Amino acid sequence: MRTYLKKLGSASVVALSIVATPAFAGGKVTGADYANGEAIFNNGKGNVPACNSCHGATGLGDDNLGTPRLAGQLYQYLQKQLDDYASDKRQDTTMFVMNANAKGMSAQDRKDVAAYMNSLGRTFTGKDLQKASGGSDVKALAASGVEMGQSHLGKVLVNFGDIDRNIPACMSCHGHNGRGVDPLYPRIGEQKFGYLVKQLKNLREGARANDPMAQMQVVARKLTDEDILNVATYLTQAPQTTIGNSQIPVEHLP
Ligand code: HEC
Ligand code: HEC
Repeated sequence: MRTYLKKLGSASVVALSIVATPAFAGGKVTGADYANGEAIFNNGKGNVPACNSCHGATGLGDDNLGTPRLAGQLYQYLQKQLDDYASDKRQDTTMFVMNANAKGMSAQDRKDVAAYMNSLGRTFTGKDLQKASGGSDVKALAASGVEMGQSHLGKVLVNFGDIDRNIPACMSCHGHNGRGVDPLYPRIGEQKFGYLVKQLKNLREGARANDPMAQMQVVARKLTDEDILNVATYLTQAPQTTIGNSQIPVEHLP
């Protein structure tokens, strides 16, 4: 037990302590124009196409297009990604559209649409929430011939990491079942399967390198193809709620 703890200590990574800026007041982002964000999301702006045409009407993403779920993702994370696409710090290697989309918006537009996407999905409750969880239908994917992983093995990596290979538990940064931790660690639970696999490979191979202090690249480099399929299979189905508490975290917000 003692060696276990000692090893765990060296394998775990201390999450950055960030002095959170008071971006939220009553669950709302200060200084964001939600109506403008909603208009951009649904109708686009200038040359920028409507976000819902690829990310889905309610922002839950689409495995056929390789697009991620955006509904309910952390506000700061979304804003940072849009800024990173706009400055070419991150390249869209899936459809090669997001850099142009982000550049077509002003910094205020990016803030507005990020705030709007963060607010999406908060109104789902009970059965609606389960229906709208946004994760992929793993049975349908498997039936259509997509290579899937083993959920139970993914669960072990998410919750405990792998001490022998010095892989930290994903939840040590991303929170319970990858439900996200403000402001740095995005929500990865109930994210689309195909998108998770693609990003983990990009981060492993350096095609995506916009993560602060290479924190995520360091982890991704330790993952095998099998690990990636396993964690993605688990995470896409992993609910935000904990046993005995059916409220999603945002429902606890004032
Ligand atoms: C033509 C399809 C398309 C349209 C239209 C589109 N996106 Fe995307 N978006 C993508 C794809 C594909 C990705 C994954 C890119 C990658 O591999 O990095 C993505 C990724 C993103 C991400 C990164 C998410 C994450 O978890 O890191 C954000 C944020 C985003 N899009 C926001 C938007 C917004 C806001 C709009 C509307 C202004 C929009 N998208 C319009 C296809 C699209
Ligand atoms: C040391 C902290 C840390 C650990 C541990 C960690 N991550 Fe991350 N991860 C991050 C950070 C920070 C980002 C955000 C990168 C950015 O801002 O662009 C991230 C981003 C991601 C993304 C991209 C999300 C998106 O929407 O594009 C995925 C997928 C991911 N992590 C999966 C995992 C998995 C799976 C594990 C466990 C095997 C894990 N992470 C462990 C810090 C961590």
